[in-house]
Amino acid sequence: MLVVFLLFFTKLTFWLVFDFIVRTSHLYRPPAKFAIEETGPKVGSKGKDMKIGILGAGMVGRAFAAVALKHGHDVMLSNSRTPDTLFTLRAVLNCKIGSPQEAAAFGDIVLVAIPLKNYASVPVAPLEGKIVIDANNYYPERDGHIGELDRDETTTSELLARHLPKSKIVKALNAIEAPGIEQEGRLPNSSERRAHPIAGDDPAAKQVVADLLNQFGFDVVDTGPLAEGRCFQKRTPAYCVPFNAKDLRLALARAVETITRT
Ligand SMILES: NC(=O)c1ccc[n+]([C@@H]2O[C@H](COP(=O)([O-])OP(=O)(O)OC[C@H]3O[C@@H](n4cnc5c(N)ncnc54)[C@H](OP(=O)(O)O)[C@@H]3O)[C@@H](O)[C@H]2O)c1
Repeated sequence: MLVVFLLFFTKLTFWLVFDFIVRTSHLYRPPAKFAIEETGPKVGSKGKDMKIGILGAGMVGRAFAAVALKHGHDVMLSNSRTPDTLFTLRAVLNCKIGSPQEAAAFGDIVLVAIPLKNYASVPVAPLEGKIVIDANNYYPERDGHIGELDRDETTTSELLARHLPKSKIVKALNAIEAPGIEQEGRLPNSSERRAHPIAGDDPAAKQVVADLLNQFGFDVVDTGPLAEGRCFQKRTPAYCVPFNAKDLRLALARAVETITRT
């Protein structure tokens, strides 16, 4: 009797221990030696879990959405057509899709990445009080000629700011080729870390955008008010060249020199 009891007790103990190991094994994580390479750089938690609306589901909108989703943000993409035309993209990226009006209302922060010629169609009311990142550039061959820009009386982002007078416009992401948004993020202190120029009239809004870009693996060089966006528009030394922060400052200084002289 005692032998049977001891056998039963030993077996029960074994199964309890085995069951405990099985149930808790998921809590053990081996050291994440390759985590950075697998998931891209993750820099702190600042700016995490934001709702990001995106107007434009082209090269820039998609790349930005992919990085934002990877970092745990909630993203809604929109295009100029009806949202059902983004059906496949939703499945691929696992993001929300909507109309521009819905994406503008959804985002705490909203990226505008559309052909510049359409800037006046950006919804105004849902963007009031919000941070709007402007990635647009002026290509007359695509956008048609816009006299004020041709005469250099204003800049692309100031046009958008005039259209959205109650939004906080931050010019950013216009000076990087779209694939770089996904591929060129690096951990802080990396010697290869690329820097983005930004400009805007609202320092707090610029800080939010800078934190977000930092989280996505980039340094940021603040060029000053929105009008300074002129220094990294098309045909400037800082436009779409992968500089680190130090070299970007030099390129921006060269742009300022050229602009002042002409
Ligand atoms: N490509 C780059 O490497 C790059 C880099 C930096 C900045 N940029 C600038 O960023 C902007 C976007 O460039 P992209 O290359 O992403 O363009 P893209 O690939 O041609 O895509 C444009 C997107 O904008 C959508 N769209 C057009 N009008 C719209 C509107 N009124 N409201 C909402 N969505 C609208 C289009 O939707 P539909 O397809 O439905 O028309 C499309 O999804 C441009 O101003 C460009 O100059 C481009």
